[in-house]
Amino acid sequence: MKRIIVTGGAGFIGSNFIFYMRQAHPEDRLICLDKLTYAGNLSTLAPVMGDGNFRFCKTDICDREAVYRIFEEEKPDIVVNFAAESHVDRSIENPSIFLETNIIGTSVLMDACRKYGIERYHQVSTDEVYGDLPLDRPDLFFTEETPIHTSSPYSSSKASADLLVLAYHRTYGLPVSISRCSNNYGPYHFPEKLIPLMIINALHDEPLPVYGAGLNVRDWLYVEDHCKAIDLVIRNGRVGEVYNIGGHNEMQNIEIVRLICDRLHKPESLITHVTDRKGHDLRYAIDPSKIHRELGWLPETKFADGIEKTIDWYLKHEDWWQPIVTGEYRNYYERMYGNR
Ligand SMILES: NC(=O)c1ccc[n+]([C@@H]2O[C@H](COP(=O)([O-])OP(=O)(O)OC[C@H]3O[C@@H](n4cnc5c(N)ncnc54)[C@H](O)[C@@H]3O)[C@@H](O)[C@H]2O)c1
Repeated sequence: MKRIIVTGGAGFIGSNFIFYMRQAHPEDRLICLDKLTYAGNLSTLAPVMGDGNFRFCKTDICDREAVYRIFEEEKPDIVVNFAAESHVDRSIENPSIFLETNIIGTSVLMDACRKYGIERYHQVSTDEVYGDLPLDRPDLFFTEETPIHTSSPYSSSKASADLLVLAYHRTYGLPVSISRCSNNYGPYHFPEKLIPLMIINALHDEPLPVYGAGLNVRDWLYVEDHCKAIDLVIRNGRVGEVYNIGGHNEMQNIEIVRLICDRLHKPESLITHVTDRKGHDLRYAIDPSKIHRELGWLPETKFADGIEKTIDWYLKHEDWWQPIVTGEYRNYYERMYGNR
């Protein structure tokens, strides 16, 4: 039985990770620390809230005192850090909160790990730390040895955190690991991100805004495959190592949007091309051979199946995304916990 702190568990990947771990390791105790920013939605965690082996703490990972208190109470074996400001467009508007949460927050968590002792600190990172690849070189992929070469304030803050994690390993001997994953999709994805945004706009017959010509390529992975990979890394991955995670599933943004239109029987005339994002990365593509070779991980969900499941999930869970679209979800915590 492990005691695992999961930060950012009210967000997209963190919540999927909590649900996955509940199934895969019901004996483990999971403690979720989440600040509940605009991207955190406590109602997502409703299915596990009453579970005796689960605790939710509304906590900012930058709040040293609060973090130390939880470490003292829970004595975790493992920390998995998902908590982050994660939206590139927002980082272009306002970088400072990205530096605060993504860098300072990571250092506070690792200081707590040093102070109280830990089996493993795992940093959930991104392939965006490698920058981008040219569109006309499909033979190139990011390996763990690809130099860090970031484009946005978001990716720069994630890369800074990665460097700090490796420094804590080298300097203090902290048992760390890092995973760098490609773009995820699946249930509970916040509606500002490409796939849920297009599904929800298409359902409302609203314009589908695509940056530039939509030719930018992303390597899409079904979120549950990412969760399985992290579970393998925290248990069997080598300390001090970086593992790339990706599904060899490259698609242009415009292809994804067309596919969503087709599946929802909506006309492609809804697609509108808007001014490109500043510094927009062209292509991401992961070489996942290290995690396959060392830990036997392979993605299990084919894109055709994963996107079908995802679209179905959004069709069936309007009760989840409608309050987000209207902003009402932000009152959920107050309603549930405000007077306690
Ligand atoms: N979404 C992707 O495709 C993708 C791909 C690779 C890596 N990642 C990484 O995975 C992690 C999770 O991404 P996501 O898409 O689930 O993000 P998300 O934005 O959906 O969720 C982030 C969560 O972190 C919480 N949070 C933010 N600041 C916090 C703070 N200071 N203290 C505590 N909690 C805080 C938010 O409330 C939210 O619940 C991030 O670290 C991201 O960089 C994401």
